[in-house]
Amino acid sequence: SAIEFDLDAPFTVEYHDSLPSTNARARELAAEGETDVAVIANEQTGGRGRLDRAWRSPPGGIWLSVLCRPDLPPAHAPVLTLAAAVAVTKTAREHGVEAGIKWPNDVLVGDEETKLAGILTEMEGEADRVSWVVVGIGINVDPTGLPEDATGLCAHVDDIDRRAFVQGLLERFDALRADPEGALAAWREHALTLDRRVRVTSGDETIVGTARDVEFPGTLVIATDDGPVRVHAGDCDHLRPA
Ligand code: BTN
Repeated sequence: SAIEFDLDAPFTVEYHDSLPSTNARARELAAEGETDVAVIANEQTGGRGRLDRAWRSPPGGIWLSVLCRPDLPPAHAPVLTLAAAVAVTKTAREHGVEAGIKWPNDVLVGDEETKLAGILTEMEGEADRVSWVVVGIGINVDPTGLPEDATGLCAHVDDIDRRAFVQGLLERFDALRADPEGALAAWREHALTLDRRVRVTSGDETIVGTARDVEFPGTLVIATDDGPVRVHAGDCDHLRPA
């Protein structure tokens, strides 16, 4: 059941009707020495989200993992996750969906800021260079049955050509991964988090303040009453003005 892609980017596409998880399949391919493969599934039976959460992946969604071997130290790999969030957001906008990015890499839509897409990056490597990175991208298409804080492409546009969407997404991701500074600039341009009151939990810490900037490779700078605080990873809530 292979589908044909005419890509302007150097990825081999592996398509499956159903997989436990495209990230798990991409990790298998990494162990076999492969690179620049995009694994796509129509359905996942064991989709994984961040923080060990399950990720609901019914048939007809866009469930995709990109395996690559960038020349980056592991500490810089978050820039690839940012690049993926930008690629999803730009592609969604091109298809008529007004998406934006919540730090670090959730793609949200509309005033309600419901979640359209999430990204789960996994990697392996030494201190100075990653061996491989798997960037897993989940995009909801059919909004039926989603929790209230989530949305799907079809809630905003009548028709979505998933093949064209994936093709545009992979081409954008390919261009952005080669240009970390450009990816960061594009992230800022599409951000919903900047200049907003936020509450960020990172490990045992909770930081409340105003998000001011994102610095390479994806660090959020928060202005707090005690001065600027830099956060490398965490969960971010946008706070409504009181
Ligand atoms: C999140 O928690 O926001 C990240 C969700 C990531 C889901 C995608 S779907 C394709 C890939 N395969 C998985 O098992 N997870 C990621």
